[in-house]
Amino acid sequence: MKFFVDTAEIDAIAELNDLGMVDGVTTNPSLIMKSGRDILEVTKEICDLVDGPVSAEVIATEADDMIVEGRKLAKIAENITVKVPLTWAGLKTCKTLSDEGTMVNVTLCFSANQALLAAKAGATFISPFIGRLDDINLDGMDLIADIREIYDNYAFDTEILAASIRTVNHVTEAAKIGADVMTAPPDVIKKMVNHPLTDKGLDQFLKDAAKAGIKIV
Ligand code: E4P
Repeated sequence: MKFFVDTAEIDAIAELNDLGMVDGVTTNPSLIMKSGRDILEVTKEICDLVDGPVSAEVIATEADDMIVEGRKLAKIAENITVKVPLTWAGLKTCKTLSDEGTMVNVTLCFSANQALLAAKAGATFISPFIGRLDDINLDGMDLIADIREIYDNYAFDTEILAASIRTVNHVTEAAKIGADVMTAPPDVIKKMVNHPLTDKGLDQFLKDAAKAGIKIV
């Protein structure tokens, strides 16, 4: 499973990238707003830092305008993935940009039929939003499973990018179903290391090492 980090905070990306935990980055207008940075500047900095795909989202709503924005974003770096919403205008933009050789991430996906349309429009990634479905008492994981089944039935190349991940259990479940990629905020990725038995076991080993006077260097 590839790990994308869902943030526009450079320091947080760099920290995880140094550990080999970053296969790509996703941003959206809300995350850019949170960073307080100019979209073109911060996106360029992220692209320079990370080898994998970096999603930057268009803000126009009409296809012609989205295509202009997408082409401008695509010029930032070779690893840009243009992110478009799951609307007819977004799908038209997806088809045009992917035909031009630009990676496209179709975002705000909440149904299997939407995912089917995105694959047919040539999406590189489809982003089903798990957490936002859970927020309205639906099971986001059912959607991941449905898309996995449909894409496998027809051998679509589009990668399933499990998005809106809010908990470490979301990561486990998405990995079990076979999502190709997950994108999560840095704090969720960091929490994945936690286990009380690891802490307890390490505490005992360190006490015993001190008692025995063990020295390695
Ligand atoms: C991913 O591409 C999305 O930007 C992100 O995962 C949305 O997450 P949220 O629903 O927690 O805002």
